[in-house]
Amino acid sequence: MFKKKVYVAPMMQYTDKHDRYFLRLISKNIILFTEMIPTNAIIHGNRKKLLEYNSHEHPIVLQIGGSDPKEISQCAIIAKNLFNYDGININVGCPSKKVENGMFGASLMNKPILVGKCIKEIKKNSKIPVSIKCRIGLGEKQNYLFLKKFISCVEKSGCKQFFIHARNAILSKLSPKKNRTIPPLNYEFVYKIKKEFPHLEIIINGGVDNIHSIKNHLKIVDGVMIGRKIYKSPFFLKEIEEEIFNNKTEITRKKILEKLIPYIESEIKTNQTSIQSITRHTFGLFTGMKGSKYWKKYLNRIKFMNGNIKDIILNGVVNINE
Ligand SMILES: Cc1cc2nc3c(=O)[nH]c(=O)nc-3n(C[C@H](O)[C@H](O)[C@H](O)COP(=O)(O)O)c2cc1C
Repeated sequence: MFKKKVYVAPMMQYTDKHDRYFLRLISKNIILFTEMIPTNAIIHGNRKKLLEYNSHEHPIVLQIGGSDPKEISQCAIIAKNLFNYDGININVGCPSKKVENGMFGASLMNKPILVGKCIKEIKKNSKIPVSIKCRIGLGEKQNYLFLKKFISCVEKSGCKQFFIHARNAILSKLSPKKNRTIPPLNYEFVYKIKKEFPHLEIIINGGVDNIHSIKNHLKIVDGVMIGRKIYKSPFFLKEIEEEIFNNKTEITRKKILEKLIPYIESEIKTNQTSIQSITRHTFGLFTGMKGSKYWKKYLNRIKFMNGNIKDIILNGVVNINE
């Protein structure tokens, strides 16, 4: 029913606008997410800095963290009317202590009525498509009924799209990092949700790191969201383009860097961006190749280099054979 989709997961301090620009050079079909941005930062902070992006990044979804329906709705209006985001996603999966105290993130899985109010308020005031990103549950025990009740309650508010990280969040006991590895993955729960709610768009997330796995998930659910594998090995997106979207491209790693050069030049000139805040996202570009170590070392020294950007970038890959 839904067109099968692949998404890049929101990752704080990683999927910033420079990373997304770079990823879009490799894949035209994936859907990008911003990092999570708290609602109060959007309302009271430097909006331009937080929300601006390059038009080349579309389709792009803004992920927000918050739980006040009025504030969330205000952010949705800003996202659509001022920045033209293609969608807004509410974070109901982040397990950090800070987030728990602020009443947003994974702790909201205990508050499906409040989450529903947030969705309703957005839908009342804006036409922006809205979605939820959640876990399969909270605590050490896995409980399918808990997940089902959550989805069933939230869908009543009009939410039609759910991104489900197929792990529980164990709040207060585990660090956010451990919460991405220790709670076991349970894809079956997500499959079951799709089966019981076939009219909803269900996207699975967590531990997906190869084409075979993407293809298998897509037989059952509507989309796959991938975080760490793409960050660590961005050229995996070329494989995704070819194998999932049937888009054979001639793009090479070096050509991607060549395409990135004008962006780096313009960012430095217009926004005084530092070179390494862009090039750091290319760290994994040569993963699995002979020159990978060399490129990483080169990037560690790049901020001390003088000369024009084109020479700096291309000198780093001159001895790498693709
Ligand atoms: C460094 C890092 C930052 C993350 N930040 C966010 C975030 O801002 N919002 C969110 O919903 N999930 C965040 N996540 C979780 C990812 O979106 C994703 O759910 C998780 O990494 C599992 O997917 P993966 O196994 O494909 O990486 C983050 C994960 C990492 C590794």
